[in-house]
Amino acid sequence: MDSFLVTGPCRLEGSVRIGGAKNAMLPLMAASLLTAGTCELENVPDLRDTRTMMQLLAGFGVRATLGDGRLAIDASRVESFEAPYEIVRTMRASIYAFGPLLARFGRARVSMPGGCAWGPRPIDLHLRGLAALGARIRIEHGYIDATAERLRGAEVSLTIPSVGATVNVMMAAVLADGRTVIENAAREPEIAELARALRAGGARIEGEGTSRIEIDGVAAIAPFSHRVIPDRIEAGTFAAAAAITGGRIEIEGCDPGHLGAVVDTLRGCGAEIVCGSGRMAVAGPGRVKASNVETGFYPGFPTDMQAQIMAVLSIADGTSTVVDRVYPDRFTHVPELCRFGARIARDGNVAVVTGVPRLEGAPVMATDIRASSALILAALAADGETKILRVYHIDRGYERIEEKLGRLGARIRRVAG
Ligand code: EPU
Repeated sequence: MDSFLVTGPCRLEGSVRIGGAKNAMLPLMAASLLTAGTCELENVPDLRDTRTMMQLLAGFGVRATLGDGRLAIDASRVESFEAPYEIVRTMRASIYAFGPLLARFGRARVSMPGGCAWGPRPIDLHLRGLAALGARIRIEHGYIDATAERLRGAEVSLTIPSVGATVNVMMAAVLADGRTVIENAAREPEIAELARALRAGGARIEGEGTSRIEIDGVAAIAPFSHRVIPDRIEAGTFAAAAAITGGRIEIEGCDPGHLGAVVDTLRGCGAEIVCGSGRMAVAGPGRVKASNVETGFYPGFPTDMQAQIMAVLSIADGTSTVVDRVYPDRFTHVPELCRFGARIARDGNVAVVTGVPRLEGAPVMATDIRASSALILAALAADGETKILRVYHIDRGYERIEEKLGRLGARIRRVAG
């Protein structure tokens, strides 16, 4: 298992190019299962999760090849309908195979994803949505088994605008008989991208990006080609890196339109941000200002940036609060940030962050993708050396982050063990 050694403090300067969005790419890869041909994706980051999804698809008999940011997925032959525990436990997004397999082949068997590092992450809404479309679902021995002769359109009203449930129901509904309406659908840009790609394959979808999505089923989805949108969380993480190090970073190849709440929050912390077309310049403040942050569903402040903003606020002048309304338990980074000398007290889904003037390098452990990036941010600002253990978590969602940070002047290196 690799670790990162980071020597701080440093002030990051220069430009960085943002890669394709993990959370847009994973549903697009799964959606290729709907087509009996070769789908092509561009701007695909070579992440651990990309490789895991390729492995999952290979298990179904699908051939996928990745090179130079291009991913070709040939799902003309599918011989297995099972997403095994060994893969699902390493990547929950494996559940995205469920809707497409069921819609195209009438059967799917997917290991139940358990909780994750920060607590329970149920999939009841996925299952209820697919059952409403006519799937017969049984849960036995840790697996979800589902069959359906032919799915039929239905009204699916989500009690929470879940990204995953919206993705799964949308992918199943494109091949169902008749009309499906998803009420209280997730509005994240990754959902809109999936709808656009499916539409390129002949799907009839309207309303993506709003909370009501209407889908009229078609007989077949043709192979589609699609360019993956920039990763808004990677872009937000580099913006936070400029803020915490008092640096100046040109973030290229991003979509500032997807980052409204993050930009507003960082400005509130004192960062100067200039947004342009496909780029953003971020200059960190002399001293971060305290700020109160609440996560919410898109276009709210993303829970996937909660850990990073908390790292920034840990050195603010004053006391801040951070509330996670999407994942009330997502705070495994709190005790690790405290190892740097941060003063953070958690009560339920609220963390009170009393800013300290400086952090100190310390040995810490990464626990999930975003918690890990928060630890890197803290390490960049901290005095002395930090060793971050278990960086495989960060490799799941950030492509060669140490090289990108190194080019901005960070002293960071990957070591074995
Ligand atoms: N929820 C339910 N039942 C369900 C599904 C969700 O109660 O059946 C709840 C969850 O417990 C949570 C809320 O609904 O409180 C939102 O969860 P959602 O389903 O939207 O999350 P997800 O689809 O499992 C995706 C991202 C996450 C990101 C969340 C929220 C992917 C592959 N994952 O997860 O990304 O945090 O949306 O924006 O797109 C990450 O990239 O690090 C990551 C964890």
